Amino acid sequence: MAIPERQSTQSCEIIRPPALIDLNKISVYFDTRDGSRVTALSSLNLSIYPGEILSLVGPSGCGKSTTLRLIAGLLKPSEGELRIHGGERRKGFSEVAIVFQRPTLLPWLNVLRNVLYPVRVLKGRIPGEDHQQAMRLLDLVGLADMATKMPRELSGGMQQRVAICRSLVLDPKVLLMDEPFGALDALTREDLQIDLLRIHAETGKTILLVTHSISEAVLLSDRVAVMSARPGRLQELLEIDIPKPRTHNTPSDPRFVSLTQDIRDQIFEPRPVR
Ligand SMILES: Nc1ncnc2c1ncn2[C@@H]1O[C@H](COP(=O)(O)OP(=O)(O)OP(=O)(O)O)[C@@H](O)[C@H]1O
Ligand SMILES: [Mg+2]
Repeated sequence: MAIPERQSTQSCEIIRPPALIDLNKISVYFDTRDGSRVTALSSLNLSIYPGEILSLVGPSGCGKSTTLRLIAGLLKPSEGELRIHGGERRKGFSEVAIVFQRPTLLPWLNVLRNVLYPVRVLKGRIPGEDHQQAMRLLDLVGLADMATKMPRELSGGMQQRVAICRSLVLDPKVLLMDEPFGALDALTREDLQIDLLRIHAETGKTILLVTHSISEAVLLSDRVAVMSARPGRLQELLEIDIPKPRTHNTPSDPRFVSLTQDIRDQIFEPRPVR
């Protein structure tokens, strides 16, 4: 039986349940067309626990998307071991869903049919309970009254909310999000961040979030993994011990300010401004 992991923080010792996903000394190499080899990840160790929001931050090219693709089963490690529920990653493991930077809705289907699209592909039909689940999800993000609209009638933020509902409709255990709010304006982004916190509070999903925004990572996460520049490996793992529920006002909390500064210091070496 897996032994719960202990981790010390400044103030207390945290006892965790067994990890849902374990990346154990994972390396990924890509052979490029000019015959050279790129090391995208180098001996990466990371455990993801059930029900947590874990953010990956780090410089461009450090292997954040590669890490998500590994967990999604779109890529195999060159070295090392990926374990889910303590076992090997099963082929066709379908308990993972991904949300990308752009919503990629199907323009010829209305909002509800877009949300239900994975159900139609998997089951070939749409059972009543899936229909109800899709409507519940749209309601959770404030779009229940837009169910019959076409994607072109929606703003960018609304479209991304629909994409998030689509990713949740098959009730995955793990939601992988790759810069999901990166294409949105600042105010819409803040709204979607709060939406995501609400979805997490209601569904208890395990969420692995890639973001270039340090403040977004701190606002949303239980832990933040800081990755080093390529080849990517884990540089620092920070516990975000800011009370919940977090709101639009959380960024003025002194602990928020000090944690964002800690992460900034990890990523950027101090350089004189000329
Ligand atoms: N299919 C591929 N073939 C060759 N090199 C690749 C491939 N996919 C990724 N890489 C390289 O692996 C490294 C990590 O890429 P990855 O996309 O994971 O970075 P990232 O941290 O997500 O970057 P960004 O923040 O810019 O999105 C990069 O140097 C990239 O060029
Ligand atoms: Mg990326």
